[in-house]
Amino acid sequence: MGLRLKFNLILAACFVVGLIASSVLFYEVSHRNALERLHAQIGVLRAQALAVRAYTSDEIRPLLNDLSDVQFLPQIVPSFSAQNVFHKFRDQFPDFYYKEAALNPTNPSDLATPWEREIINRLRADTSLKEIVEYRETEKGRQYNVAFPLTIRAEACLACHSTPDKAPSSMVALYGDKAGFGWKMNETIGAQVISVPLTAARQQAFDNLKLMVGAMSLIFLILLLVINTLLGTMVLTPVIKMSEIAEQVSLGDSAQPEYVVDGSDEIASLSKSFNRMRRSLDSAMKMLDT
Ligand code: HEC
Repeated sequence: MGLRLKFNLILAACFVVGLIASSVLFYEVSHRNALERLHAQIGVLRAQALAVRAYTSDEIRPLLNDLSDVQFLPQIVPSFSAQNVFHKFRDQFPDFYYKEAALNPTNPSDLATPWEREIINRLRADTSLKEIVEYRETEKGRQYNVAFPLTIRAEACLACHSTPDKAPSSMVALYGDKAGFGWKMNETIGAQVISVPLTAARQQAFDNLKLMVGAMSLIFLILLLVINTLLGTMVLTPVIKMSEIAEQVSLGDSAQPEYVVDGSDEIASLSKSFNRMRRSLDSAMKMLDT
């Protein structure tokens, strides 16, 4: 096996090992960054929902409250507006999910599903938990879920959620007197569950990886080309030439011209030593002849 082939094989092996190791590391870091971005996105969605909630109780409820004595308007309910705004948001982002899930909800559509129930129970058991992050397989693919506790912090909430006799009669007429009551101050009654698809994060990490592998391969090919050219002109050609001369000289052809490599590198010094050795050999032969 020639020097060039050996050299290239070793370089290629080093490249492949290095590429595999750095790809694994790069994908991990890239995926983690994409997850962090998803998490930040969820934080923004949650802030948006909380803002809609606050807007409803500060701006809408005072305007429409009186009407609720006649007919209950769900539009004055923060949870109703937050979930409906999100519903419209989903027209453009159908893979996103927002729910104010409760164990004992006023509106049956807010009833926690079994996995939401389990999360709510964990949040109830440990009130220091600010959020729970979970990955879930759904029919739409893998989802990144974050659940935030819904805890009763204001007495005002209990006006509608403590007992049916305290709640507006129009509300009881609409929602019944069975569910959505019995909530207590500082009790975690449910969770704000927000989910975003993970496929986008995976795809992004994968696209970044493809770009990195492409760029590294290109750099490697350019390096390989440069190294091969240099190896050829600076090492292989002079060595092959000297080896051919040595071959001819060893067969008794002393008419071969001297091979001179200019410069002060190892090959130039080898060619000088080689030529000196040839001259010594020539004079030794001449001395023998006489
Ligand atoms: C005027 C009465 C009223 C007040 C005050 C009120 N809610 Fe509600 N709440 C409702 C009604 C009615 C629903 C059901 C809305 C719907 O149809 O989506 C509801 C729904 C909810 C839900 C969704 C789960 C469920 O029960 O369907 C949560 C969570 C919630 N409220 C929390 C609160 C909190 C926290 C406060 C205090 C900041 C509060 N509510 C104040 C009437 C009220």
